[in-house]
Amino acid sequence: MTDAPIGIFDSGVGGLTVVRAIFDELPNESVLYVGDTLRGPYGPRPLAQVRAFALDVMDHLIAEGVKMIVIACNSASAAVLRDARERYDVPVVEVIQPAVRRAMQATRSGHIGVIGTHATIDSMAYDDAFAAATNITLYSKACPRFVEFVEGGVVAGADIEALAQEYLAPLMEKDIDTLVLGCTHYPLLVDVIASVVGDGVCLVNSADETAKQVRKTLEEGAMVRSSDGGPPSHRFVATGDPKPFEILGQRFLGPEVIAVERHPRRADTVGFPDE
Ligand code: DGL
Repeated sequence: MTDAPIGIFDSGVGGLTVVRAIFDELPNESVLYVGDTLRGPYGPRPLAQVRAFALDVMDHLIAEGVKMIVIACNSASAAVLRDARERYDVPVVEVIQPAVRRAMQATRSGHIGVIGTHATIDSMAYDDAFAAATNITLYSKACPRFVEFVEGGVVAGADIEALAQEYLAPLMEKDIDTLVLGCTHYPLLVDVIASVVGDGVCLVNSADETAKQVRKTLEEGAMVRSSDGGPPSHRFVATGDPKPFEILGQRFLGPEVIAVERHPRRADTVGFPDE
């Protein structure tokens, strides 16, 4: 079982930011990644639908024999975490709690901002996660169009800068000192976001924090893969057209994204648009 891959999924390429962090943190681990590009983005969808799609992808990962699931998508984490932990025997790691813990350590003023998709922000998952901390005031802002830019391969330039100014201005008015990038696509926009919020605001990237949580969970379960088993092997699967996923994936993750496979279950899978 220690040799089995870690199953990681997102609605698209955003979860590759988590894969990158896991490669850096745990270089011996093999990864099976699913980008649900045919049904993504999840952010504008009702939570119940995100939940159904996420469970469908996770059932597929379990059928492929993964030793752990990483929900590398805030929208899916908000929709499905509790169900997933009850449904599967393998550990399930998500991206919200690790980022919340890091933000609590980072803030001095207690004024924390969080940005994410509509699904994530409307779910109040971050409000719930910070609820126990009496000294924190949370300011949330949905930034739905950021995902469009990332999935279109645009992470710099005048248009995205103007959009970032517009989205982030209300948070800056609240004097936040910490900003949670509550969407796994957003680390790809870190330069733009940092230039808008300036040096005084600590950016919390859920990818790095999640990778640390993955390590901890594997260590606690004695599931870490050793280098004695040879080099790790990775697989990347897209539910939509593999080619654009491969091109964007290589750009954002690196040369590890090769030979992207098409998700096999077209007929019996919920919510594929061509059904
Ligand atoms: N990666 C997703 C998230 O973290 C955003 C993309 C989407 O809308 O599906 O919420």
